[in-house]
Amino acid sequence: MQAILLVGGFGTRLRPLTLTTPKQMLPVLHRPMLEHAVSGLARYGVDRVVLALGYHDDAFRAAYPDGLCAGVELCGVVEPEPLDTAGAIRFAYEESGMSAAAGTFLVANGDVITDLDVGEMLRVHRSTGAEATIHLIEVDDPSRYGVVVTDPDGRVRAFLEKPQPPAPSNWINAGTYLMEPSVIDRIAPGRRVSVEREVFPAMAEAGTLWALPHNTYWVDAGTPQTYLRVQLDLLDGRRGPAVAGVSAEASVDAGAVIERSVVMAGAVVGEGSVVRGSAVHAGAVIEAGATVLDSVVGSGATVGRGARVTDGTLIGERFAVAPGADLSDARVPQSL
Ligand code: GDD
Ligand code: MG
Repeated sequence: MQAILLVGGFGTRLRPLTLTTPKQMLPVLHRPMLEHAVSGLARYGVDRVVLALGYHDDAFRAAYPDGLCAGVELCGVVEPEPLDTAGAIRFAYEESGMSAAAGTFLVANGDVITDLDVGEMLRVHRSTGAEATIHLIEVDDPSRYGVVVTDPDGRVRAFLEKPQPPAPSNWINAGTYLMEPSVIDRIAPGRRVSVEREVFPAMAEAGTLWALPHNTYWVDAGTPQTYLRVQLDLLDGRRGPAVAGVSAEASVDAGAVIERSVVMAGAVVGEGSVVRGSAVHAGAVIEAGATVLDSVVGSGATVGRGARVTDGTLIGERFAVAPGADLSDARVPQSL
């Protein structure tokens, strides 16, 4: 089966990290986020992935020059301007040479990391005769997601993107779809079209959209908190055996404390510093006596002596935090 991965967004919630690196190329543990998404699909027989590219498309090409990612053939198409989610699906479908003859295809948001069983989803999709099937996850706060109301048999009654509270359901669009080629004809060509705000609501109205409610491991890694959480889950063994977070190629002083954190190759952590619940990217420097809690230090960035960087702070690539500074939920540099 072929898949279209939507990876052309600006990643605004992860600025300034995404000013230099597109969201799906940011490291999750020691590999780009994209590889986690692609290897998840490869497990279930997806053998060709079309990247719907836009913002910083060059970063993807540079990382996969031979067009292979996690054993899967990668092909990329670049929108002339951002066409939004449905516009991007139509553009990628046509530009990559996909056709109705190939039948059902998969679409996924590129920032979704999940253990969804796509084989099971395909069985459900076939058994209902759906035009499209979307994976649903149950969450406590549905307000920042697409909220989905279904009949008891799984047919979608309503799709409401980021509705004002109270939401009519706690089941949300988890960002993986199976689609029949006829969905492409529902997307107006050459303009911005949102799959969540236009295409899915119209299909719900027409009764051709179905859902697979299934609470498996799932994170949308597109916010500072969830970008960290998806990595801590791997360290904590919440998705199989726990993995080590500190690279063998990082240099950590014997007098530093590192807890539940990712420290990437070439990073330096100085004496008496504390790093907890955080990600320190390749080549970053945490100087002596500094504290980094629940935060991300971008590649090549420096946290000066004795500084405190806490509570979801993001330090952009190669930026520096002055010695002794105290930052909480901050952005360095501050986004415009
Ligand atoms: N090619 C392309 N072009 N990709 C785009 C564009 C575009 O114009 N706009 C967004 N994308 C990509 C993003 O890079 C991302 O991978 C994906 O589309 C979804 O965009 P997000 O910005 O991450 O959306 P969201 O997280 O607010 O909401 C979406 O995901 C939720 C679940 O994680 C929606 O699909 C919600 O309905 C859903 O609940
Ligand atoms: Mg997202």
